Amino acid sequence: MRKLGIGLLGVGEMGRRHAENLRRLVPEARLVAIADVALDRARQVASDLEIDQSYASLDDLLANPDIKAVVIATPDKFHATAICKAAAAGKDILCEKPLAITLDDAHTALQAVKKAGVRLQVGFMRRYDPAYAAAMKRIEAGEIGEPVVFKSIGRDKDVPPIAAYQSNVNGMLFYTNTIHDFDLARWMVGDEVKEVQAYTTVAIRPELAQYRDVVASVLNLKFSRGAIGNIESHAQAMYAYDVRTEIIGSKASIFVGTVAHTPATFMTPGGGTQMLADHFLTRFADAYLAEMRDFVHNMLNDRPPRVSGEDGIKALAIAVAAEESHLQGKPYEVTHSGSRTGTVDDVRMKAV
Ligand SMILES: NC(=O)c1ccc[n+]([C@@H]2O[C@H](COP(=O)([O-])OP(=O)(O)OC[C@H]3O[C@@H](n4cnc5c(N)ncnc54)[C@H](O)[C@@H]3O)[C@@H](O)[C@H]2O)c1
Repeated sequence: MRKLGIGLLGVGEMGRRHAENLRRLVPEARLVAIADVALDRARQVASDLEIDQSYASLDDLLANPDIKAVVIATPDKFHATAICKAAAAGKDILCEKPLAITLDDAHTALQAVKKAGVRLQVGFMRRYDPAYAAAMKRIEAGEIGEPVVFKSIGRDKDVPPIAAYQSNVNGMLFYTNTIHDFDLARWMVGDEVKEVQAYTTVAIRPELAQYRDVVASVLNLKFSRGAIGNIESHAQAMYAYDVRTEIIGSKASIFVGTVAHTPATFMTPGGGTQMLADHFLTRFADAYLAEMRDFVHNMLNDRPPRVSGEDGIKALAIAVAAEESHLQGKPYEVTHSGSRTGTVDDVRMKAV
């Protein structure tokens, strides 16, 4: 059997799952090596999964000729540079979301991919979730007619440690969390978002303001063909990991989502209880695996990836517009060619 040699960069929570899937559940992949700036972590995961090579740098990973494709699961801030390096080394790439945290960096990454003639997939794994995929099949078959309203909710469960904000390696809520809903919005409505209006809060955690982040947000969207939308994101909803999406069409509507972890309900004289979904790794376990299998199959069979770099930059452009709306307190137009006032970092600096 032909196998795709893969190197994986960054083995934290997400990268480890990708490594496990590649090693155990994608027979057409050969996970050749793991790299992480925390070399001990790379060595530990390599040892756990019986992989021979582990490195402390991307450069060492890219120098390995058995590696034909690279999976990038480092923090968000390092995605664009890693894509540029992997592309220059001639490797195909699956990069976790977001593509980058500035539009300038995202454009640089896509140019590097184009120049090198390699392929890039961005990790919008919800498209592979069985429920979302089933919904999309119905939409593509015309069953709901013309989409009118898109509504999505993405609530993470646990309180992120303050170090996660202090580290300055990830974008704010719109880039880490809402980016998935931005991709769903474009994909499911089949149209581009043209305007965003942001309402945000740090009410229950005012210390986040100094990191220019928010606890929760509600965004209103306008699409080019006339549909409207609304997305709520919450960093610490406490009760569950709760992701749901509704799409209301001219002929019918679809609701995707459940807070139940399993279909079991526990019934006692005092009432009933259900186990609630508590983590993305369990809620989207099938999606991460299907995403990886699809990437590997497409690379081996010389097909384009199903989720492209263009998809990555278009979702990012919505995040940039949402952040600008949050900073300026008014609706903001989505522009794909760099933010009007410079990079997102510039905008953040100006907002201080
Ligand atoms: N698709 C999803 O549902 C999903 C879910 C969670 C995280 N993510 C994304 O995956 C990425 C990783 O998130 P995580 O939660 O695993 O983070 P994490 O902090 O748990 O892990 C990051 C890992 O990258 C390593 N690292 C940091 N800088 C590096 C560099 N420059 N080069 C090599 N390694 C480096 C760290 O040592 C760590 O092991 C992020 O981009 C995040 O947005 C996606």
